[in-house]
Amino acid sequence: MASFWRTLACSLVFGISYTAAHGGAGTGTEYPPLPLPSGVTASYVDTTNTSGLVFHYLSAGCDPSNTKPLVLILHGYPEIAYGFKDMLVPIAEQGYCVIAPDQRGYGRTTGWDMRPWAYVDLKQWKFENLVRDLMAFVWAIGYTEVKCVVGHDFGTIPAGWAALTRPDIFHSVVHMSVPFVPPASIPFNLTSTPTPPAALSTADWTYADVEYALEHLTPPRKNYQWYNSQPSAAQDFLNPTALNNSLHAFFRVEWYLKSPAYLAQFPPPHELASSDPAQLAQVPYFYVPLANQTISEALAALYVGQNASPSEAWFPDADVDVYVQEYTRTGFQGALNYYRVLTSPPGPLTDDGILWAGRKITVPTFFLGGKYDWQTYLVHGALENYNQTSTDFRGSVLLNGSGHWPYIEQTGETVKYVNEFLASL
Ligand SMILES: *[C@@H]1O[C@H](CO)[C@@H](O)[C@H](O)[C@H]1NC(C)=O
Ligand SMILES: *[C@@H]1O[C@H](CO)[C@@H](O)[C@H](O)[C@H]1NC(C)=O
Ligand SMILES: *[C@@H]1O[C@H](CO)[C@@H](O)[C@H](O)[C@H]1NC(C)=O
Ligand SMILES: *[C@@H]1O[C@H](CO)[C@@H](O)[C@H](O)[C@H]1NC(C)=O
Ligand SMILES: *[C@@H]1O[C@H](CO)[C@@H](O)[C@H](O)[C@H]1NC(C)=O
Ligand SMILES: *[C@@H]1O[C@H](CO)[C@@H](O)[C@H](O)[C@H]1NC(C)=O
Repeated sequence: MASFWRTLACSLVFGISYTAAHGGAGTGTEYPPLPLPSGVTASYVDTTNTSGLVFHYLSAGCDPSNTKPLVLILHGYPEIAYGFKDMLVPIAEQGYCVIAPDQRGYGRTTGWDMRPWAYVDLKQWKFENLVRDLMAFVWAIGYTEVKCVVGHDFGTIPAGWAALTRPDIFHSVVHMSVPFVPPASIPFNLTSTPTPPAALSTADWTYADVEYALEHLTPPRKNYQWYNSQPSAAQDFLNPTALNNSLHAFFRVEWYLKSPAYLAQFPPPHELASSDPAQLAQVPYFYVPLANQTISEALAALYVGQNASPSEAWFPDADVDVYVQEYTRTGFQGALNYYRVLTSPPGPLTDDGILWAGRKITVPTFFLGGKYDWQTYLVHGALENYNQTSTDFRGSVLLNGSGHWPYIEQTGETVKYVNEFLASL
């Protein structure tokens, strides 16, 4: 039945040619089973009638009567729910039903717009719509409340927006590796202003301004979020020419370079002096590449003389193979569409921010990152000002042995802090 709906959903929205080309739909038998740890189950739930998606999700500790509090964990880019496989059971053991879905655009979740860059309906990836996806999902699995929503990397955006807009449902939030930035204030008290009002923005600067400034650095640079929004990005990720055209090499090198195995040779990341884009010149080239580099060129240039094998201890080749298998089937465009909404100029893709301008998170909020992750500091003041972002900020921790993927690099430590936060609620 699930497979029927999956097929129908994709056929209705995109037509048979896209489902066939991407293998995103069908009988279900084309997906090899994921190599999951004991206690973790893979399932599907059909929310076609609400979100348009058939969700694929991993779960641990859930009982059929749904009596245990729900902990929802949301992945970022370029991730999938599978990345959380080792932290589900140790959180579930504290008495929770722990669930990680593949989000819109990712993995085995289907029903999202798979059309190419120029044709895709980006409204599907608007931030409010990401909360709609979560609402539909939570209801469909038989819950109306979420004890805690945990988001990593781009997953902090749906997690943050869920806590911001529906605190009656999402009762606490953990942000991992990307501090949440709530919608910015909007122009105020303009009635007596003789000049036209300033343009609205969902951030305190616009991406176009930052790009302009980065292009005028020596050497010229660019912001990875801007790069990820360009038409060529999905093909650049799928065909990493400077990394032997090997997706396996891409995932290995990307995980290695963003971990202390590589980054510990440099001074640890720190709060930037200001929001002047020139400050970003000190950030590694995987976040702020040279203006003329593709992603694989940026990674390959940093990888010269390096050996990623230390990362095999915490990110085994067998797991890399799963990422390669999943992204080979889906491609990267669905996942990259999040960045396109993020970097959009003021207008219909970002106007959710106007509705929620000035709103703070009011539920308990915790931040966990890695000491070696510059991502913590890419937005000036985001970590320092968490007590402005949330009226119930419970503090932050930066794991000494982690870069950008603490839940993979130091799963035990990550679980310890998440469990402590849950127990404190
Ligand atoms: C979706 O809606 C249709 C029409 O109301 C209904 O027949 C179908 O059972 C619904 N499917 C799910 C999975 O809720
Ligand atoms: C609104 O603008 C007027 C004119 O500049 C100013 O006198 C007034 O103090 C402003 N009001 C607030 C609440 O800032
Ligand atoms: C890319 O930019 C760098 C730094 O500006 C420059 O040294 C290099 O020659 C450029 N490469 C190409 C292929 O243009
Ligand atoms: C690319 O292939 C060469 C030759 O097999 C190998 O030495 C190198 O490590 C590979 N690069 C990456 C990034 O895996
Ligand atoms: C917020 O945190 C900063 C330090 O990061 C501190 O200086 C400030 O007093 C705090 N504000 C409130 C309202 O707690
Ligand atoms: C990191 O190391 C420092 C110095 O040893 C210690 O004070 C701190 O508590 C450690 N942080 C974590 C999160 O373990």
